Amino acid sequence: MNLTGKVALIAGGAMGIGRAAAILLAKNGANVIIADLNQDGGEETLAHIHTSGRQGIFIHANVTEWENVRRLVSKSINQYKKIDILFSSVGIYARAKLADTDEQTWDRIMTINVKSAFLLCKAVIPEMIRSGGGSIILSSSSVGWHDSAPNIAAYATSKFAITGLTKSAACDYLVDHIRVNCICPGPTDTPMIHGGRTKEQLEAFIESLPIKRLASPEEIAQAVLFLASDESAFITGVAFPVDGGQTAFV
Ligand SMILES: NC(=O)c1ccc[n+]([C@@H]2O[C@H](COP(=O)([O-])OP(=O)(O)OC[C@H]3O[C@@H](n4cnc5c(N)ncnc54)[C@H](O)[C@@H]3O)[C@@H](O)[C@H]2O)c1
Repeated sequence: MNLTGKVALIAGGAMGIGRAAAILLAKNGANVIIADLNQDGGEETLAHIHTSGRQGIFIHANVTEWENVRRLVSKSINQYKKIDILFSSVGIYARAKLADTDEQTWDRIMTINVKSAFLLCKAVIPEMIRSGGGSIILSSSSVGWHDSAPNIAAYATSKFAITGLTKSAACDYLVDHIRVNCICPGPTDTPMIHGGRTKEQLEAFIESLPIKRLASPEEIAQAVLFLASDESAFITGVAFPVDGGQTAFV
């Protein structure tokens, strides 16, 4: 796919799916802006991009705070004049039953997983309108598409919120040529999936999956590339499962 001349802002590009997407979009011709709290990880992603002969910059940002997001978008515009693609891969995971989830954890998940997406869209959309359109891709999850599971009440709630935000934003900005979709990855081999489980628990979890393996971050990034590209020009408001058949198998 050809993203030559396009500018992509990747929030959460220091690790995992965000890093894989930043590298893949750059390989396909985009100028990439990586935004993350994790400076070392962000610079490592950038080094991969530079090694492959492509362009990019890293901007340190906490995307749960409006002033940070506003500054991030204004620096991006100063550098590249426009933003054609926004991919937010920002998210955290926590495991607990609903009544065992403390208020602080609930607020933290909603802030990092949902408010960040709202703030990024709020800041980027006026720039996309100004430049004639764009493609926004948010990160939901297989549990934010139509199902859930025990012990993830806060996480699942946040991911269903992303699906709702995606569809609402798609309706609001259809006339402005801005497409808004979200990916719904199945379990993916990133630092996130290893948190909160022992090695044995993770192995048992993988064995319980229909496809009996985790996705690689690069496999999920291929869906981001498609939704970012003009090849998906007629697709908006969609929650796109990339889950090895997990949600078909209920
Ligand atoms: N890994 C999975 O199995 C899986 C499955 C379904 C959905 N997802 C979703 O995909 C997205 C990416 O997951 P991942 O596994 O790559 O996660 P990850 O933990 O590897 O990467 C998340 C990135 O977000 C960054 N980040 C967190 N808070 C931030 C903030 N306030 N400001 C800026 N950056 C911040 C982190 O530093 C990190 O680089 C998440 O939204 C996650 O919920 C992951």
